Amino acid sequence: MKEWLRDAVFYQIYPQSFNDTNADGIGDIQGIIQKLDYIKNTGFNAIWINPCYTSPFTDAGYDVEDYYTIAPRYGTNEDIKNLFAQAHAKGIRVILDLVPGHTSITCKWFQESLKPEKNEYSGRYIWTDYVWKGCDGYSGISGSMRGLSDRNGSFGVNYYSTQPALNYGFAKITESWQQSVDSEDAVSTCNAIIDIIRHWLSLGCDGFRVDMAFSLVKDDDEHLETIKLWKRIFNVIRPEFPDAVFVSEWGQPDESLIAGFDMDFLLPFGDSHYMDLFRTDNPYFSKMPDGDALPFFTKYIENVNITKGKGLMCIPSGNHDIPRISYKLDDEEMKLAYAFLMSMPGAPFIYYGDEIGMKYVEGLKSVEGAYNRTGSRTPMQWDNSLNNGFSSSSRDKLYIPIDSDADKPTVEKQISDKSSIYNELKKLISVRHLYKALQADAEFELVHLEKSASPLVYKRGGKILVAINVSDKAAKCEIKENLGNVIYELGGSAVLTDDVLSIPACSASFIEII
Ligand code: NOJ
Repeated sequence: MKEWLRDAVFYQIYPQSFNDTNADGIGDIQGIIQKLDYIKNTGFNAIWINPCYTSPFTDAGYDVEDYYTIAPRYGTNEDIKNLFAQAHAKGIRVILDLVPGHTSITCKWFQESLKPEKNEYSGRYIWTDYVWKGCDGYSGISGSMRGLSDRNGSFGVNYYSTQPALNYGFAKITESWQQSVDSEDAVSTCNAIIDIIRHWLSLGCDGFRVDMAFSLVKDDDEHLETIKLWKRIFNVIRPEFPDAVFVSEWGQPDESLIAGFDMDFLLPFGDSHYMDLFRTDNPYFSKMPDGDALPFFTKYIENVNITKGKGLMCIPSGNHDIPRISYKLDDEEMKLAYAFLMSMPGAPFIYYGDEIGMKYVEGLKSVEGAYNRTGSRTPMQWDNSLNNGFSSSSRDKLYIPIDSDADKPTVEKQISDKSSIYNELKKLISVRHLYKALQADAEFELVHLEKSASPLVYKRGGKILVAINVSDKAAKCEIKENLGNVIYELGGSAVLTDDVLSIPACSASFIEII
């Protein structure tokens, strides 16, 4: 594990909605630079920025036009270099978003690939050899498009129709137009991605969150060829940039960490049961009875054993693709959820705005391919000034409207309220920074959890007992430990008498084991 990950606490910034400094209604890199002190004061020491490259924005920037250039609406390459330098001066690492599975249709590579005449990019994407022959139906290809040019073929798309799939080859060849993983074209796509990684790491970026990292080789059900491909990429990049960190959007740590990623996210897809924690109709971290965390922990422990020493599993508060954590949880429940996130292994990721309990805004018109995700991407609410301090543009120019609720949280209000979600999270992050046993790679041991019931009790690093009771009734469980100081408590501390741990309703405590 990279040493800096041990105590890393990440803040995810969706750049278009964070802070606008040039009054165009869209956030920018300069806006992130201006908020570095806020980020640092909250306790974060790492940032992940969603794609900020030139793009037609049919999918919020996950449709890259030019991998080497920052989108003008966010600033320049100089601005991001400046962000890296200023963040580093404050002890904050910055990772970017790498989108290796697809480009936009406006990307120069694709424009060349559309041409009927053979050229360097003809095989950069997945093409059939006849326009009426589709290439869908293979795992990893989400659809097939035809008719964009006079090239006689159909091309595969990776996500939206505006996102043609890059060609890394097929694991199984069943058609003459399919290329193997070691074909010249597949290898040249791989080399192109290595160049892009190298470019940003050389400018000072600290690593990447990798979009749909599992999706590269097609018809690769077990992901064995995709795993080999990532190993090839890491074999080149690791010696050049030994401190760089890669976190995958894969959702299956048993695969991604074997592929060489430092960390993987537990996500709505895959088999992690991540959604059971905060987002089902009856999530575990709500006072409603019957929420069940057992499937999550059963899978989690299975993965702990498979991935020991290979990398980390990261549990995010949320992200730009799912309803905010506040969608199903009230303030008290959210604080307990944060006590959990800040005491689990891996690197915690907090999605911008979740630190103040921003709401999922219902009923918004889709913006730049967000559809139902728009409500989780609204502008950051800083204070009570114009546009809540997000932008000094006129309200109708804002990229996404601000939550219209008069009672919505702002950073300013939350900082001044001692009992706010923000101040609780800040306290929790500072406790995590103080105790190695709570950090990324310290051991995890589940002590007590029953089906659909509180409490949840676990040990970290053999030294700290975490007891969380999300129900509104006091709970008890038997444990055989000697307990010492309480290092954190919310809603009262658990008390041990004659091997019985009594945990107050709606409480979380971290207690030293002696
Ligand atoms: C996953 C990203 O998180 C999502 O926002 C995007 O739309 C798809 N990948 C396609 O790149």
